[in-house]
Amino acid sequence: MKVSYHGHSVVKIQTDKHTIVIDPFINGNGQTDLKVEDLKVDVILLTHGHNDHVGDTIQLAKQNNALVVAPFELATYLGWKGLNVHPMHIGGSHKFEFGTVKLTQAFHGSSYEEEEQKIIYTGMPAGILFKKEGKTVYHAGDTGLYSDMKLLGEFEDIDLAFLPIGDNFTMGPEDAAIAAKWIKAKTVVPMHYNTFPVIEQDPKDFVSRLSGKTGKVMEAGESIKL
Ligand code: NI
Ligand code: MN
Repeated sequence: MKVSYHGHSVVKIQTDKHTIVIDPFINGNGQTDLKVEDLKVDVILLTHGHNDHVGDTIQLAKQNNALVVAPFELATYLGWKGLNVHPMHIGGSHKFEFGTVKLTQAFHGSSYEEEEQKIIYTGMPAGILFKKEGKTVYHAGDTGLYSDMKLLGEFEDIDLAFLPIGDNFTMGPEDAAIAAKWIKAKTVVPMHYNTFPVIEQDPKDFVSRLSGKTGKVMEAGESIKL
């Protein structure tokens, strides 16, 4: 499969038959190379309801007739918006035709701002383990460091992991480096930084904290073959 990074927390996975996008925040994302109108996807995976993750999901799902997989409350809400949804929750995995999805814990919030001064609660936030073609990709979503990440290192064989390093809302570089050690991924890519002033970080500083060649900064549009 081919995995590409598109700024903030946007990750695209292309398998031999399907295109999957995680957290497609495109309009308003100054770090992305994508355009909503041009993006062809079969599946949208969402970690939580915040607008910098749900992003352009509604338009994208409608223009592509794509399936949206998300934590239950968020999936239910998007289902009411007319999207084709598959709800899941933390600890659960499901084998889809496009690959196997398992939701992991994430310590964060989850809500959707439909209009000003109206916050809709969208359940617990999650991380995503995606498995296909014998490979495992981990997208941590938005989260602080938590010790059960050690379980991912113990029980999963993660080929490629995306960890937030922006600080303020999520782990900063120091904590993300600890997470990287615990999850034991072969390659770790920083995400969720430089999109807003409060999450400005030097991704190379994060990479320098990791052992060997584990860390890799991906530019928007860059891809890795697994
Ligand atoms: Ni968030
Ligand atoms: Mn976020």
